[in-house]
Amino acid sequence: MGGPLTQAAPSRGTSRAELVAELCAGEHHIRRNRELSPLLALEEGENILEVGCGGGTLTEELAARSGAAIRMVAIDSDANAIASARCRAADEGWNHNVDFQVMDGRRLRFPDGVFDAAVCSRVLGYAKSPEMVLSEMARVLVPGGRILVVEELIAVDAGVDDALRARVFGLPHPSVGRRVPGLLRRLGFSEVLTTPHYAFSNVPRDVKELREAVKNRTGLLAWALDHQRCSSADIDEFLDILQSNQDEGVPWSLIVHLAALGRNRRAL
Ligand SMILES: C[S@@+](CC[C@H](N)C(=O)[O-])C[C@H]1O[C@@H](n2cnc3c(N)ncnc32)[C@H](O)[C@@H]1O
Repeated sequence: MGGPLTQAAPSRGTSRAELVAELCAGEHHIRRNRELSPLLALEEGENILEVGCGGGTLTEELAARSGAAIRMVAIDSDANAIASARCRAADEGWNHNVDFQVMDGRRLRFPDGVFDAAVCSRVLGYAKSPEMVLSEMARVLVPGGRILVVEELIAVDAGVDDALRARVFGLPHPSVGRRVPGLLRRLGFSEVLTTPHYAFSNVPRDVKELREAVKNRTGLLAWALDHQRCSSADIDEFLDILQSNQDEGVPWSLIVHLAALGRNRRAL
């Protein structure tokens, strides 16, 4: 069995949403969602917005497992992601309180002040304008509303530098996590609490398999290559570093996410 990077379906003709959904279903993603979502302290009857829900793993945690009877709207700019999240929620029977919609987080089609809380997890690193997404999330919150933003703070693929990692994973804003607390304060969130979350990822378990996957044009790396997010020299450099780490017995990646919880000012 390969790691998640090699398990994805063929790159050509496979949507980014499918690859991302597959990667987001990993055990450490589910554990992170489970451990960080209680920070929102959801209450009965609240209206919650999730931006960039992808395959809906965090949506599921909030809508189906939080224990509070909430109503959720989960949006993503990728229609394929929304279709697969909607389908999974219906199949698994947790769709009754979630409204999935295709929408760009930079231009939310909601009036001001309608949500009690807004959440996004690992979206800003991929978004075209992280600032616009956060500003829109702030706009649609009620006075005193909460925002929870989870972004990668440190990711160490055993010695791979940030710029190379960003290219091979197709991440335009790899270090946005460091800026989130400041961005939230500038948007008027008076209390911003930060909580780190650590995870070790077993990606990739076997670098040779990963190399093979790229050769066979499968998986996320092949997707990034085929879509000109990185060059084949980038992929070779990345895999060589991983291989040398694996040879040294360091086949794990360490990922530290930062959860930033903000509360906006109450009306006077
Ligand atoms: C790495 S996935 C994370 C998915 C999910 N939040 C999770 O943690 O499992 C990033 C998601 O952000 C979405 N995204 C990126 N920019 C967006 C934008 N401007 N508006 C809405 N969604 C966006 C992508 O389509 C993708 O589904």
